[in-house]
Amino acid sequence: MSEPVQTPQTFPTRIFSGIQPSGGLTLGNYLGALKRFVQKQDEGIETIYCLVDMHAITTWQDPIKLRQQTREAAAGFIAAGIDPTRSILFNQSQVSAHAELGWIFNCVARMGWMSRMTQFKDKAGKNSENVSLGLYAYPALMAADILAYKATHVPVGEDQKQHIELTRDIALKFNNDYKENFFPITEPVIEGAATRVMSLRDGTKKMSKSDPSDQSRINLTDDADTIAKKFRKAKTDAEPLPDSLEGLKDRPDARNLINIYAALADMTPEAVITEYAGAQFGTFKPALADLAVAKLSPITTKMSHLMQDPAEIDRILGEGASRADAIARPILDQVYDIVGMIRSRQV
Ligand code: TYM
Repeated sequence: MSEPVQTPQTFPTRIFSGIQPSGGLTLGNYLGALKRFVQKQDEGIETIYCLVDMHAITTWQDPIKLRQQTREAAAGFIAAGIDPTRSILFNQSQVSAHAELGWIFNCVARMGWMSRMTQFKDKAGKNSENVSLGLYAYPALMAADILAYKATHVPVGEDQKQHIELTRDIALKFNNDYKENFFPITEPVIEGAATRVMSLRDGTKKMSKSDPSDQSRINLTDDADTIAKKFRKAKTDAEPLPDSLEGLKDRPDARNLINIYAALADMTPEAVITEYAGAQFGTFKPALADLAVAKLSPITTKMSHLMQDPAEIDRILGEGASRADAIARPILDQVYDIVGMIRSRQV
């Protein structure tokens, strides 16, 4: 790739991130993304968070469920600590700049770049002739989500790293093609002990809302009993915990539980392994379950309370969308100018 025209430091710090409402929120979403979204907001940085409903329909979504899941995800964000007056919280389809800029980026991104996206290859599998065109173009829309706000930083889990790299490539190519230092070269922010939370049934697979087994994940809507049961049944081996992380090198299931504990307790994995050195899972799992219940139950309770007033959630999303549009629209107008579109309509 060619060098950036200028460094990203010329752009003011602005955070953007998104979550697909294609199912319920999982512990992976919470620890890898949402908990960190709240931290960024609380650090006083400008934060824009989006429920990416247009990304969700790249795979089939039942319309009634999609609406429900979008509201539920919004409730999850607020219950976890996103304050819609300090952050902008909205759903993607209410701000058309995303789709419009996404088209322009379809014309910037190269087929070769898209074909290398591992998430597409994983999701399409052997069925690539039969998946939607949207699933293939998905990362260009994701770049548009971020760059419609000239966001400089994007907190995500490990699995989204390649998509952020593509966003950087698109920004670079746009800046170089049009000889403008227009878009920042966005930085991924992948931090903490739980950037890749694994399935509770298989420590080599990512915890995912689309896994057919509900036992593989903790949902933010699970009650205390269910959370405790799932951790008690989580796959592990028969060995006691070692006294250093080195000892977990070939024990992905155990390592995953240590990481989850660390992220929930705001500790380092090193500190957790020191505390539980020599412990059996019979001791560690109940401690982890108690911790998870203590941290997640207040969120679950608040979420179900918020869900009793869907009109209020819709109002919050609508207001967030207006604020998001006020930032994105002037940026998109400049993009249209840069690429040479006539803008003569009176509005
Ligand atoms: P999605 O909806 O799959 O996940 C939302 C966020 O949760 C993180 N995450 C995880 N982190 C740790 N362990 C896990 N098991 C785990 N599962 C999910 C993801 O890394 C992500 O940060 N393409 C994105 C949505 C998106 C987006 C954007 C993100 C669309 N536009 C713009 C950032 C900026 C996605 O499918 O995430």
